[in-house]
Amino acid sequence: MATRAARGKPAPKPVLILNGPNLNMLGKRQPEIYGRETLADVEAACRAEARRLGLAVECAQSNHEGALVDRIQAARDANSAIVINAGAYTHTSVALLDALNAAELPAIEVHLSNIYRREAFRHKSYISPAAVGVIAGLGSHGYILALQALARLLKR
Ligand code: DQA
Repeated sequence: MATRAARGKPAPKPVLILNGPNLNMLGKRQPEIYGRETLADVEAACRAEARRLGLAVECAQSNHEGALVDRIQAARDANSAIVINAGAYTHTSVALLDALNAAELPAIEVHLSNIYRREAFRHKSYISPAAVGVIAGLGSHGYILALQALARLLKR
């Protein structure tokens, strides 16, 4: 069968799965809140689900706000959509909100924990206005649900 490239169709751009500060500590970090899976486990589950959905994914994580802004800016050309868990920057970062708005891509905000059941400072998300949807409190399954939602959105 002719490959997509041979048929002159560009390969679909991958969905970016972007994790922010301290999410590299998953599995070790407060497992009673964030679970025992590592970030590598979560990313592997996302890759498997993406394959099932016929999507490509790219995974990235940084503890640095500027690096996250750089990656979101690059996504404007390199990616079709973004799944973002901005960690604590969710509650502080106008820069991430601006970057997501500038990217002009469908973005889904994910949180492992239910931020609305936790401290008041976690109830405010600066980035939600740039997201098509928000998933919180369902653990790592939230990333899978975000990919399923994006697969539907990108098909339209
Ligand atoms: C988090 C919730 C944030 O409040 C926290 O700072 C995190 C993780 C979550 O996935 O539940 O680092 O985004």
